[in-house]
Amino acid sequence: MTDFVVHPAKKPLIGSVPVPSDKSIGHRALLLASLANGKSRITSFSRGEDNVSTMTAMRAMGVIFEDVGPAEVVVTGSGLFGLVEPAGTLDCGNSGTTMRLLAGLLAAQPFRSTLVGDASLTRRPMMRIVKPLRARGARIEGAPHPTKEGEVTAPLVVGPLPEGEYLQGIELVSKVASAQVKSALLLSGLYAHGTTYFKEPTVSRDHTERMLQALGVPIRAVGSVVELDPAGWNAQMPGFDIDIPGDISAAAFLLVAAQLVAGSQVTTRDVGTNPTRTGILEILRDMGAGIRAEPQGERAGEPISQVHAWAAPLRGAKIGGETVPRAIDEIPIACALAARATGTTTISDAEELRVKESDRIATMATVLRAFGVECEERPDGLVIEGKSAPLEPVTVESKGDHRIAMTAAVLALTARAPSTIRDVDCVATSFPRFVGTLRALGAEIEVVGAPSAGHDVVKGGA
Ligand code: S3P
Repeated sequence: MTDFVVHPAKKPLIGSVPVPSDKSIGHRALLLASLANGKSRITSFSRGEDNVSTMTAMRAMGVIFEDVGPAEVVVTGSGLFGLVEPAGTLDCGNSGTTMRLLAGLLAAQPFRSTLVGDASLTRRPMMRIVKPLRARGARIEGAPHPTKEGEVTAPLVVGPLPEGEYLQGIELVSKVASAQVKSALLLSGLYAHGTTYFKEPTVSRDHTERMLQALGVPIRAVGSVVELDPAGWNAQMPGFDIDIPGDISAAAFLLVAAQLVAGSQVTTRDVGTNPTRTGILEILRDMGAGIRAEPQGERAGEPISQVHAWAAPLRGAKIGGETVPRAIDEIPIACALAARATGTTTISDAEELRVKESDRIATMATVLRAFGVECEERPDGLVIEGKSAPLEPVTVESKGDHRIAMTAAVLALTARAPSTIRDVDCVATSFPRFVGTLRALGAEIEVVGAPSAGHDVVKGGA
């Protein structure tokens, strides 16, 4: 297990840096390339552990992945009906996206598969996919949730769908905006005899819809409604080339760090700026941050930008409503902005944070208080009082949550003495070169303990 020792920033963060490729788009590219007829080439693929979990699972079902370079994979798809029964369990690691999207795909297969995950994933709620998949005819069982009555969690046992049976159409009006639920239904919907209709309260990330549309699947998306009707479709997706945009969810840590360290000027390059993901840019703007997205056209049907950030005086703001699903993974780092803003920041409508890799409302409250920042925990968010004096140095636990570990590391740049962030191997799930990138910008971070595979901490440099 490794820890970060983060030193207070003595100089501005300066530079232009790449960010890892988008994890959400990576999962979808791997899954759809696996189901395509023919070869696909995935470039700018950054091999975070979550994406690797998806790739390993598909490999176990007969899909061929050739590593042709550090950031390039060639995939020989099996076609929609060519997957083979895996010999063992499919390990989704820490990745909720892997488990939920795979469950949708596996629900239509003529074999049984078992999806397992790490301790964090084995506490996450799965009824949100189990129930609608069952409603369309899938066999799917979860383990009883350890604390939530009526809820299920991993391991999930999915299938088989008996010969001659088909998944049916479904109309789901979801209470939560969730790209994972939406995508699980759409992937199962590729195999269904009937229409998949999904409506969510506000639109969640739409990468699945964009990619399916580009591959000729009969899907229509309007606002927060999506409909897939496979009638008349030949059930074939061609192989494709995709160059994955940078991950705005990773860039967010650097863009916020630039606000917190006086005099900083940071540019993150080739960042995906799909409007269903740019809530954090709006939050930054609302809080007075120095931030500008410079559009660079499209890549893989997704808008990309260079995002420039420079330190500017921050003010408290209200964060809630439809912005939240578009910034759902960035709320922890938005808490770091709030901690250094003048005045109060109120975060509401964010109860989903309680069921992420950790309970991010409770974990962030603990981290903020350790740094000497006053905050109130609410069922659906936090109220945070900004603090202008240097923060208290801390020793805090990441709780195995990558976004908590990185948020705490960014906050520690503004403490009056070095801080220790414990249990940071999890950072490799989404941002394997986090430390190297921050060091390249001028931050001083040490990594102590034995690094896990894939972590860049000993190498340094972005
Ligand atoms: C993701 C969807 C979101 C997000 C997660 C990635 C995806 O989860 O928090 O990190 O790639 O579909 P929910 O669908 O549970 O909101």
